[in-house]
Amino acid sequence: MYGIELLIKEHENIIQFTEVLKKLSVRLLEGEELNIELLKQCVEFGKYYSDKQHHGKEEKILFRVMIEKLGPVASKLIKNGMLVEHDLGRYHMTKLLEAIDLYETDKSSEVKIQLICHATGYADLLKRHIDKENAVVYTFAERSLSEEDKELVNKETEIFEKEASKNKVQERYLSWLKGVSKKIL
Ligand SMILES: [Fe+2]
Ligand SMILES: [Fe+2]
Repeated sequence: MYGIELLIKEHENIIQFTEVLKKLSVRLLEGEELNIELLKQCVEFGKYYSDKQHHGKEEKILFRVMIEKLGPVASKLIKNGMLVEHDLGRYHMTKLLEAIDLYETDKSSEVKIQLICHATGYADLLKRHIDKENAVVYTFAERSLSEEDKELVNKETEIFEKEASKNKVQERYLSWLKGVSKKIL
């Protein structure tokens, strides 16, 4: 199913991004001076690629259709699980950006802890979240949605992607991820 295959592919990119966050956290812990610009780019990737592009498609398309069509079990799984975790991810990104701003003028251990806490907290959260989606939520959708609903998800996903490709969103973020992974990992 195109809509889900694309989300799984995006998961691989998000996991790679969390590896970058973990690596930068280790470097900071080992006493290296952080590249503030690079960290700000990480937050941008988290906010736009992971959240707006990826969670955006889940929330506006796949999860919406699952909640509408698959009854209370799907609704509970998505609303009490996945959506809560999307929000927690947003919280980590907001706090990470706050810590980056502080770090520009204050390189104290307190600020470094805040940076490491939110960078690795985000990485850990997203890894577990993605494992659950791949193993449980997406397989539930594949198994239970009607062919007609799967087609609806695929169509809406195509429209979403077309819109994003007009602004070269994926292209830009994926080429950033490729470059930074080569340098950092
Ligand atoms: Fe998700
Ligand atoms: Fe996801």
